[in-house]
Amino acid sequence: MPTPLHVISFDQDLDLPEGLSPTARRWAEGNKFRAKLGQVLPLPNETGGIEAVLVGWGTSEDRSKLPMAFSGVPAKLPDGEYAFGLVPDGFDKTANALAWDLGCYRFKKYKAKTEPKVTLAEARSKRAVAEREGVTLTQDLINTPAEDMGPAELAGAAASLAEAAGAKLTLIDDNAVLKREFPLIHTVGRAAASPPRLIDFVWGNPDHPKVTLVGKGVCFDTGGLNLKPGNSMGLMKKDMGGAANTLGLAHMIMSLDLPIRLRVLIPAVENAVSGSAFRPGDIFRSRKGLSVEINNTDAEGRLVLADALALADEEAPDLVLSLATLTGAARVALGPDIMPFYCDDDAAAAALSAASMTVEDPLWRMPFWPSYEKMIEPDIADLDNAPPGGFAGSITAALFLRRFVEAAGTYMHFDIYGWRPKSVGGQPKGGAAQSPRAILDYLIKRYDQN
Ligand code: BES
Ligand code: MN
Ligand code: ZN
Repeated sequence: MPTPLHVISFDQDLDLPEGLSPTARRWAEGNKFRAKLGQVLPLPNETGGIEAVLVGWGTSEDRSKLPMAFSGVPAKLPDGEYAFGLVPDGFDKTANALAWDLGCYRFKKYKAKTEPKVTLAEARSKRAVAEREGVTLTQDLINTPAEDMGPAELAGAAASLAEAAGAKLTLIDDNAVLKREFPLIHTVGRAAASPPRLIDFVWGNPDHPKVTLVGKGVCFDTGGLNLKPGNSMGLMKKDMGGAANTLGLAHMIMSLDLPIRLRVLIPAVENAVSGSAFRPGDIFRSRKGLSVEINNTDAEGRLVLADALALADEEAPDLVLSLATLTGAARVALGPDIMPFYCDDDAAAAALSAASMTVEDPLWRMPFWPSYEKMIEPDIADLDNAPPGGFAGSITAALFLRRFVEAAGTYMHFDIYGWRPKSVGGQPKGGAAQSPRAILDYLIKRYDQN
């Protein structure tokens, strides 16, 4: 028999569940159980075993401050099998089972240590399973060090995902083709030992609305010749976080069979230093034809995305989304818990913001501010990849990307961080899925209204 988890809100003036043994009840009273959010108290039975566990659920205000709060519970429990016991009105077992699952994630690839074993006997919805699998995939991809997750391995991961879902994959990895057709992807990736490539897969019924996801796949970002200082470079294995989030989201979309024609584009490169590295001051013509002056080789993400977005735009999809660990400025503005996104369509942006709060995958809208357009226009080329001064760094990067999307119905861009510097609630430290569950909810509402 699984041990019951009795979930108790703070505003329930602490009615302990009927049917607790006198021992358990006395233990709860004697141990100051106050139903504070995150408080977990195992209750003993007469023989010293665990009769039940009280889980504090706080107030709705407390919970609004801690997305996926239930993810903190499993780590606080002794090994064993659990099930929901009494839960407050409005407690969503499906959503909280997903939070539990996300809280159980550990990156195990490089560590033999056995992990605590706690299980929750609760049926998971198909959607909760898809979300958990997608989030886990994203975390594993980001957590894997660059040595084992270079452009080739990232392409391998995309290929496995595409194959499992029956998507059609095209891998563009010929250097001559890249140089001719995707000059900026080639430029950024050309200095690395593992050559650049463009991952392209297509899934779903061709008659359904076209949705294209573009993910930044910079497998390591040294900054290039504008080398990052050591402490800024330390975390740059996560610079394929946009690609990892894109693949996690694609997994969710495909396993839930959303009625869309999905395309995933990932420029997979390493921004490395060698004799063949591109240089500050160089000017390159992009796939779309716009020329770009390089003022900082560390602003490489927007370069590789520009060519991928141009390709995406050529078939005029209904919706184009880019996900990228694009700027340090985004992190400065909003920090690691809430992600900026950009979208010109007010109704779509409002729906996405609402979705992000509902599924507790927080997003905040930022503006494609028109008067900053001139900041990305240098004297001797069409575009500047790194406007001097760094004013509005996340916005100017977003404006840069938008120049490459003209024919798509709606464009949304996510400047994500892709990393949790420390655990938030129970959501683990390390590689992070940021925006996929919000986007999934939005896509379901936009395309699957039946
Ligand atoms: N990958 C970085 C952005 C980044 C840094 C994201 C730290 C998250 C944490 C990106 O390629 C970059 O280096 N951007 C520069 C752009 C600048 C040179 C215009 C930045 O934001 O400093
Ligand atoms: Mn960079
Ligand atoms: Zn980067």
